Amino acid sequence: MRIDNAYFTRRKFLNSILGGWLGTLAVTFVSPIVKFVWPPYKEPDEVKLAFADFAGMKPGEVKGFPWGAKPGLLKRAEDGSFIAFIGVCSHLDCNVSWMADKKKFFCACHEGWYDENGMNIAGPPPKPLRRLETSVEGEDFFVRKPGAGAKA
Ligand code: FES
Repeated sequence: MRIDNAYFTRRKFLNSILGGWLGTLAVTFVSPIVKFVWPPYKEPDEVKLAFADFAGMKPGEVKGFPWGAKPGLLKRAEDGSFIAFIGVCSHLDCNVSWMADKKKFFCACHEGWYDENGMNIAGPPPKPLRRLETSVEGEDFFVRKPGAGAKA
């Protein structure tokens, strides 16, 4: 039986199914590329840590801490102060590790080297490690982006 003047023909129905399927396929392939190029990561302005976890560090010692989804590296300077870095290479964002025997930071991805103050000294890294500010407030240890300031 044929229905004349039907609102939704078989052809329209099949075209909309095909269009929906192609649209879903396009979103499936494009969304990971968009997330890779523009990651939905928001870096924190500051992190609060327990000072007790870091108070016993000896001069020259380096400990890690979480900086949002990235690693942070905290170094105790010879004068007892703390120097904090985002532990991510300035070349292509690989994680950097502390080589205690060489007193340097090392990026294994392309053999990038940074001195103990985070300055790029060898390999492809184009810039120093990003530095963070530190402050001790009571029993809390704050690590902040430069200029983020203390919250009231
Ligand atoms: S990502 Fe670190 S040297 Fe390339």
